[in-house]
Amino acid sequence: MYWMGIDVGTGGTRALLVDAHGRVRHTAMHAHQDMRMEKPLWAEQDPGDWWAAAQSAVRAVLKKAHATGDDIRGIGLSGQMHGLTLLDEANRVIRPALIWCDQRSQAQVDGINAIVGVSGMLEATANPVLTGFTLPKLLWVRDNEPANSARVRHVLLPKDYVRFGLTGEYASDVSDASGTALFNVVNRQWALDLATKLGVDSAILPRVYESDQVTGYVTKQAAESTGLKPGTPVVAGAGDQAASAIGNGIVTPGVVSCTLGTSGVVFSYLREPNYDERGRVHTFCHAVQDAWHVMGVTHGAGLSLQWFRKELSPGVEYDALMDEAAQSEPNAKGLFWLPYLMGERTPHLDSTIRGGWIGLTASHKRADLIRALIEGVCYSQKDCLDLVEMLGGRVESVRVSGGGARSEFWRRVLASVLNREVVRLETEEGSAYGAALLALAGCERGGDVRGVCEEAVNERDIVPPDTQWRDVYLVGHKTYQSLYPAVKGALA
Ligand code: XUL
Repeated sequence: MYWMGIDVGTGGTRALLVDAHGRVRHTAMHAHQDMRMEKPLWAEQDPGDWWAAAQSAVRAVLKKAHATGDDIRGIGLSGQMHGLTLLDEANRVIRPALIWCDQRSQAQVDGINAIVGVSGMLEATANPVLTGFTLPKLLWVRDNEPANSARVRHVLLPKDYVRFGLTGEYASDVSDASGTALFNVVNRQWALDLATKLGVDSAILPRVYESDQVTGYVTKQAAESTGLKPGTPVVAGAGDQAASAIGNGIVTPGVVSCTLGTSGVVFSYLREPNYDERGRVHTFCHAVQDAWHVMGVTHGAGLSLQWFRKELSPGVEYDALMDEAAQSEPNAKGLFWLPYLMGERTPHLDSTIRGGWIGLTASHKRADLIRALIEGVCYSQKDCLDLVEMLGGRVESVRVSGGGARSEFWRRVLASVLNREVVRLETEEGSAYGAALLALAGCERGGDVRGVCEEAVNERDIVPPDTQWRDVYLVGHKTYQSLYPAVKGALA
């Protein structure tokens, strides 16, 4: 018997099977078409492509497992957050989806703040409204494409369009709904007053469930195209960050995750929906009932190293770059890296800030450039961790995952900058894994998400802070923090 997770990512859709103990057994992936960026700040994908990729990935994973639909006891969904999918009354997709990184809606953000106020948005949703969130995208369509807007009958998030394909239901979950800017994160329901104030018809919003709850069942038609069995239950699932946190076992206070992917995300469990009055971190509902989470985001984490390799060291393996960086010394002989290659989210919420090295001399080697770059990313993650700790309480350990976590050197720098032990996990399968664990919890274990995680998620490879590096980084972090206002002032 298996439970399936389906993650609708940006690059592709992945299907993953776990057994009754939550162990990963098989995975399959189907790539998406490249996102379209027709104009600066625009980023679009075709929801039909997500559904096609999901059907292929499901068929492929069943084939790999030599399984039939009868072997699948439940399905959980996760996906890229914030995207806007619009359906008309015949359930046709009206226009390509505006996805999470689409930034075209600044005028709508300003308009929302003018009507509701920044503090009004914080009160209604526990977060400021950002251009990436779903609501301003919906209002952009209203303001710029009135004919399309008039046809809208349903708004769905990316994974929920795949749910619609599987079950015919319009539904979402509390964690993904939290990123729409239309959701009351404290009460875990749509912010209907806010919708009314902004002229949004609440009838177009899907029904919202807790992440482990069953939202519907695989239809006969979907069964034919996927190989699943009609009637298989589909639980609500979660946005990709909350789902990945389930896969990392972030289901109790004190344990925090740090994901060093293209961006870097520090994610912590919250007992109460505490939020930052300045909105520098996101407070969203967690995929565990009665719990919330807070997350801080470094935009240019792995991206910094990817950029360095592409532009300055083509063809050199990442491992070799890390070995080279290890030849330098802590604080890279007075060199600092500001990782603002795509602006910065936490703590600056500043899409216009620009990055670079500061403190360069002729005696610096390439090893110093790389080491400073890794350290700069870790300083930014430290800023995230400090805010997360302010809202969520004491941080006992940090579970690190993502491409950056593969390097022992990077983990040692991170442990020393954060002044915390950092640990890796036996299974690093990300969001699809979390979605599968939610299916197991919801369909088999009476909603006991914590119990499922306790059994399935195990730690390995503990890296403690290096005490000498830590002392250098304590001072280095202060210098790093002083550079943002200086650069901001100079480039403004
Ligand atoms: C979360 C976020 C990303 C997207 C795409 O706020 O922007 O995690 O969900 O992965």
